[in-house]
Amino acid sequence: MRIIGTGSALPKTIVTNEMLSEFLDTSDEWITTRTGIKSRHVISDEQLEDLGAEAAMKALEMSGLGVEDIDLFIVSNVVSENITPGVSCVVAEKIGLSCPMFDINCACPGFIYALDMAEAYYKAGKVKNVLIACIEEPTRMASWDDRATCVLFGDGAGAVVLTAGDNIKGTKLNAQPDTDKLYMRRVLESTPYIKKAEFDIPLQMRGREVFRFAVGACTNGVKSLLDEVGISKDDVSWFMVHQANKRIIDSIIDFMQVPSDRFPVNIQDHGNSSSASCPILLDECNRKGLFKQGDIIVLSAFGAGLLSGAAVLEW
Ligand code: COA
Repeated sequence: MRIIGTGSALPKTIVTNEMLSEFLDTSDEWITTRTGIKSRHVISDEQLEDLGAEAAMKALEMSGLGVEDIDLFIVSNVVSENITPGVSCVVAEKIGLSCPMFDINCACPGFIYALDMAEAYYKAGKVKNVLIACIEEPTRMASWDDRATCVLFGDGAGAVVLTAGDNIKGTKLNAQPDTDKLYMRRVLESTPYIKKAEFDIPLQMRGREVFRFAVGACTNGVKSLLDEVGISKDDVSWFMVHQANKRIIDSIIDFMQVPSDRFPVNIQDHGNSSSASCPILLDECNRKGLFKQGDIIVLSAFGAGLLSGAAVLEW
């Protein structure tokens, strides 16, 4: 397939590190040094699905296609107020889309998983045009009393439109199931057979272990995918890495021995927006005119699961 449109949408409230230090035992210095984050967009009176609809419509507008042209809609989302129907249906109702659709929950690498699925449907001859939207509000997963997690996240939506083409050179998904490193649990309704005894558990994270996993998953995943498709890292124009932590990105750069100016970053303004991170970065860079036709772009993301994935595209 080939990406012909990108879009993104962000909540209007911007929370700076200084604002966080008004009610948390933290500081701009600590957050900046450990993560590279200076501020993040946080959902307040917006609805998550409105951000998803805005991002999707911007991507469609850029693509020149209409909702009636889309054959498949994939939404990547970790949490939303909608348990059922899926967020895909809620967004589709808003923008007037009626093709087959589904949600996936693959945490931060959700965009790569969605790209892989779109390509598989396309190669199976089932679709020509696919809309992917990654719609995330991780600020509603962390406890805002927990300074070790809540400072890391920001909300937003990113979308792409894909059509027939030969520009996805390869995708590689990976899983190392290990569910106590990064998780959140919520209590379901009581039944006559199960008492609602537990409490919801907000996002829990073993930061250092996740950090190590992220660096290894990205460097190994990207290397093995580039080997598989026969492209040298020196021929890659842009490495679009999940914006979780600037120090993770710096470690990846060190391991890969690639010039750092080939790693666009926007984490300072967004924090970690889960699966929306890569498509928001893609859209920002695209709208700034960073990409030239023929550029080789590597996407790589990692997160809860523990899941990771990489993709190589020709722009
Ligand atoms: N402000 C100030 N101090 C903080 C803090 C904050 N926001 N958060 C944690 N601390 C404190 C800790 O309590 C600890 O204090 P102590 O030494 O008195 O116990 C100290 O800082 C060091 O904590 P530690 O967790 O060891 O720090 P770290 O260097 O590992 O950095 C992370 C923490 C979370 C920034 C880092 O582990 C990380 O980025 N991990 C990956 C997280 C991630 O990206 N997850 C999503 C992947 S998709």
